[in-house]
Amino acid sequence: MRMTVMKPLSPARLKEVRPDLKAMIVGRIDALVGQGWFDAMAEIARFLPVEAVSHFIGLPDVGRERLLAWAAAAFNAIGPDQDPADVVSVREAFAFMASLSEDKVRDGSWAGDLFVAARTGRLSMAEAMAALSAYVIPSLDTTILAKGHLLANLARHPEQWAMLRARPEMIPAAVLEAVRRDSVLRWFARVAVRDHDVDGVVVPEGARVMLLYGCANRDERRYADPDRFDITRDARDHLAWGTGPHMCAGMNLARIEMEVLLEALVEAGVTLEAGNPVISANRGLYGFEALPLRIERG
Ligand code: HEM
Repeated sequence: MRMTVMKPLSPARLKEVRPDLKAMIVGRIDALVGQGWFDAMAEIARFLPVEAVSHFIGLPDVGRERLLAWAAAAFNAIGPDQDPADVVSVREAFAFMASLSEDKVRDGSWAGDLFVAARTGRLSMAEAMAALSAYVIPSLDTTILAKGHLLANLARHPEQWAMLRARPEMIPAAVLEAVRRDSVLRWFARVAVRDHDVDGVVVPEGARVMLLYGCANRDERRYADPDRFDITRDARDHLAWGTGPHMCAGMNLARIEMEVLLEALVEAGVTLEAGNPVISANRGLYGFEALPLRIERG
């Protein structure tokens, strides 16, 4: 099932769509340069996931607002003490997915390929539905919020931005450093299948364990001065997309979306200035609801 989900998200397949993503974001940045203050979450961060990624998934038009609301509700509903409104929203998302069939989704799209896999017996229909939710739920807010952190970090550190403009080959490293310093996924949980000794603390079999990705990524035993945003740092082993057999299936897409954004900004020859963000109140995700930003030539 994971192999089927990963198929359109492999580096080779994503290479095909990279030029289109780049062209779209170049057009968007061009329109924003010199326009004064705007909300970077609405105008930049949400742009590619909402315009391009929802097209790749290939769902019939459900309204972008609903897709974004479903994703936010799913992450807000993890853990105890759920808000009933989020549970209603998540149920609505799953009812919508269950109402789909091969003829209702775009041919050749990610969802289309899942229905073909179900028809040809490579997946059961239940697996295809679970795989569809793996595209619909975690593909939007995660990368949207990560782009907010990327822009805010670079705007707040003009010396790092200047370094990146002079050395664009550092763009992939800058993306990883932003994902490390401000990890979007606050936490997921696991259940220990046996007693496990972590630095002298025994986690007993059956215990539920919270994995705090952001905390691991600011572990001073691994990263010197971990709160510092530093694009020269080697952050390749960060844990923001998890690790092991369930490591994020969409990380290559997330990286490309962020890389083409930085390429577009570097090529536009601009300076960045950020105002105070509004932090979004989501139990599963850490990011901004709004981020004032100004992009000027210079
Ligand atoms: C910056 C953006 C993103 C971050 C920080 C992120 C983070 C994560 C994390 C922490 C996990 C859990 C890993 C684990 O359990 O060990 C995960 C799993 C997953 N992510 Fe992402 N993600 C991002 C973007 C995406 C995108 C764009 C997609 C889809 C296109 C996606 C799809 C998935 C899926 C399907 C899983 C479950 C994989 C499995 O259980 O085998 N993610 N992600």
